[in-house]
Amino acid sequence: MDITTTPAWSAALDSAAAISQTTLKDLFDRDSSRAETLSVEVSVGKDALLVDYSKHNIDENSLQKLIAVAEQAGVMQQRNDMFAGVVVNGTENQPALHTALRAPLETAVNVDGVDVMKEIHRVRTLVNEFAESVRSGRITGATGKKFQSVINVGIGGSDLGPTLVYEALSSVSTPAVRAHFVSNIDPTDVRAVLQECDPETTFVVLCSKSFSTAETLSNGRIIAQWISDAVGAKNVSKHFAVVSVSTEKAASVGLSADYAFPMWSWVGGRYSISSAVNLVNVIAFGSTAYDNMLAGMRSMDEHFLAAPLRRNAPVLMGLLNVWNRSLLGRETRAMIAYSTALKSFASYVQQLEMESNGKRVTADGQPVSISTSPIVWGGVGTNAQHAYMQLLHQGTSVVPADFIGVAATPTRDNEAHDALVANLFAQTQALAFGSAAEPHRTLPGNRPSTTLMLSALTPHTLGALIALYEHSVFVQGCVFGVNSFDQWGVELGKKLATEVSAQISAPSQTGSADASTAQLVQWYKKHRSNT
Ligand code: F6P
Repeated sequence: MDITTTPAWSAALDSAAAISQTTLKDLFDRDSSRAETLSVEVSVGKDALLVDYSKHNIDENSLQKLIAVAEQAGVMQQRNDMFAGVVVNGTENQPALHTALRAPLETAVNVDGVDVMKEIHRVRTLVNEFAESVRSGRITGATGKKFQSVINVGIGGSDLGPTLVYEALSSVSTPAVRAHFVSNIDPTDVRAVLQECDPETTFVVLCSKSFSTAETLSNGRIIAQWISDAVGAKNVSKHFAVVSVSTEKAASVGLSADYAFPMWSWVGGRYSISSAVNLVNVIAFGSTAYDNMLAGMRSMDEHFLAAPLRRNAPVLMGLLNVWNRSLLGRETRAMIAYSTALKSFASYVQQLEMESNGKRVTADGQPVSISTSPIVWGGVGTNAQHAYMQLLHQGTSVVPADFIGVAATPTRDNEAHDALVANLFAQTQALAFGSAAEPHRTLPGNRPSTTLMLSALTPHTLGALIALYEHSVFVQGCVFGVNSFDQWGVELGKKLATEVSAQISAPSQTGSADASTAQLVQWYKKHRSNT
């Protein structure tokens, strides 16, 4: 269904036009209960996650129009279908069952008539037991030494989620084994990590859903050789685990089937942190942290399933994106975490959102008649304030921003932490209300933001935060009418990279490259150095 042809969409458009005549200041002046009514708090175990979206150009009337859009788009039915294992990824004929990875065993989830919950919990137990053995030193390297480092080799969803979780949890607990992350095919990336590790005490998690990603296989080969040089080729498998849909491929490259952990084709790469893709962190922080992260995700899943749309955090956040992007024409959204522990959150959400909803045709292949995913970008505060916030305050583009903060600090530096959080709140205030002065000092204000606060950064709240964004992306995809679970746009670049590699390796100019690419290849060959 093309949402733009519906009366619900026309009403939302009218509402957006009307709200554009007002400012955030007007909206706050008019309604003293606004902060309270345009906020929602979600309980996550003993912690809480607050979403304050009152600093958006929205009011109760326009919110109701947006909810009507969600109803018209069938968000609730599509949500139920996704959780139940219905095929929601049509171009790959797959369900999208990341939510099953954190559901209780007794939940009924069927794929092709098979209840997958037993298999999910079997693998979860395997992952937990294996990780605990590495942590305790029951599983050692080839020379009997306890592992001191673990390198996660993966890219995209096989890297961004594990990296985010490692950085976040490192701020609140000390990892038992130090983790490193290698993703780029740039050999300086892997070499820099190897310089910090000892091959005898290094364990590698080769993480690739497809087991065919060039970057991951290249880095895996370099590391395998490095380990082989130290402990012998026949012992390399004692230092490698594989996480993949195709675990049988581990054996085909000489790795141990005992150290191979399955994931499933119905888990998208960017939605895979609930799966064995998190192995590196189970080794670093233990199985309890993993279980707690999954419990936090489950809390958000349950909220998404049960809360009425008007109080449903992922629905509201998804609809606000539709409002800003598709109805008010704001092209980008900034994500600024006032927490160094969450410094990779913007990159994580960037893949989640842009790979899911950066689409130009609908799920049934028709051109979309709506602006789809915003460009998502960002970093950490307060660094952002001394780099690019200038443009958000005074630039000619209105950039909605998500600000993310944490109430409790794991350190005793309360004064510095208070200053950090004060800066977060102050930025949202300055954006919303601005200040009048001579022209170059004037901040016009009326610039929207969402403030997300975690009561504390724990495995629980981190899981809930990740699931919140997963579901918000899903809600947007439903309204845009796109398939949020495929990513065909990345395939051409992979194919051309193989062709260009062949042109680089060929002794003389070959192939049918365009004149620019052919010239670049020749220039590169002339200047590259193997020394
Ligand atoms: O090329 C894009 C992509 O397929 C992402 O969707 C995915 O997260 C990443 O590559 C890594 O894929 P894999 O886990 O199969 O190596």
